[in-house]
Formats: sequence, C-alpha cells, structure tokens
Amino acid sequence: DSSNLLVFFVNGRKVTVANPDPEMTVLHFLRYKLRLTGTKLACGEGGCGACTVMYSRYDHHNDTINVRTKLHPIQRQLAENHGSQCGFCTPGIVMSVYALLRNHPRPTKQQIYEALDGNLCRCTGYRPILDGLYPFTGCKTQCGLGDSCCQSRKGDLDLEPEMPTRETFSLEKERRGACPDEPLLYDPTQELVFPPQLKRH
Ligand code: FES
Repeated sequence: DSSNLLVFFVNGRKVTVANPDPEMTVLHFLRYKLRLTGTKLACGEGGCGACTVMYSRYDHHNDTINVRTKLHPIQRQLAENHGSQCGFCTPGIVMSVYALLRNHPRPTKQQIYEALDGNLCRCTGYRPILDGLYPFTGCKTQCGLGDSCCQSRKGDLDLEPEMPTRETFSLEKERRGACPDEPLLYDPTQELVFPPQLKRH
C-alpha cells in the first residue's frame, strides 16, 4: 500500500520509509536512522536552534545540479574566525545561515542577525560568529564605516576611534551601496545536490 510510504531526500539521497511512525521527530530520524549526527539535540523544545535543518521543495524553473567538493564557505568562515568552540551550536548556525544565503546571497547585517535569532551559543559570545559572517554582506569592513572602522585602522588601535558624524555615516552608507563584490565568499558549487529524480524533464 503506497499510501503508507514516505519518500523524501536527505542530502541528495533518496529515503523511503514504510509505515512511518508519526511520533518520530526529524531529529531522531536523522541521528538514529540515518546516523547524521551533525544535527544536535540540545534544548529539545525548539528554542536554541542546534537541531536546525533546511528543507526545500523542487523549483522546476531552476535547473542546476551542483556538487560539494570542500567546506562550504559558511563552515570555512566560522572555522577561520574561531566561531566554533564546543561546536554544539555550530551545525544549527550553519544551517540557518545557509538557508539565509539561499534566499539572499548578499544579505544585510540585519538579515544575518534575524537569521540567527533562533540559535543560541553558550561559548563564543557571538562576536567571532558574526565577524565570520559579515563578509557575506559583500563589504570588507565589519561595521559599515569604511576607513573609519576601527578594524581597518591598523597601527593606531590605541587611539580612540573617531566617532562618525551623521554626514560621514550617510556617505559611507552610499559607498556601501556601490560596494565591490569582494570578498565573494558564496560559492554556488557548494549547493546541496537536488535530487535529479524530482526534476521534470
Ligand atoms: Fe559552544 Fe556555540 S560553540 S555553544
């Protein structure tokens, strides 16, 4: 009886479950049936984001299938900026930002904050996580103040950073509007494989 058959894809792999247990959570299925333990059980009530997964439906207008060959830029940015300590929150944070970048490849800082609204981290204080993610906005400086940013004032870090005036701040906002495409971190070849079986030909 095919009505009791649940068919879906996980990381591009087809999964078929006969007579699925309606009380089994996605988290339990991923961890204990598929042995995908990157998805964590932490608060157990949807408050901390450690169990975040991304689900999607096939958009038949989009006809690209890509391969994964290395760390996704989100993973690399978190690793290189020390955005992971005990690592328990990291898979959930990666998935939240991954879903954000799928919808907004060049997000604003505000969109990054909102994407992480449901993810708790007990270790890092969030600063290194955010520092690693800011480059996805497309600007090199971290606070949007360009050369006035204390992060780009090498050699005079002991000086009080100059406070931006309303004028310099709006000038900088204009400049950010024309911000060059660097560093371009989002690499579409790192997209998850979309199951070819679901595509219309
Ligand atoms: Fe430990 Fe975030 S790195 S909870």
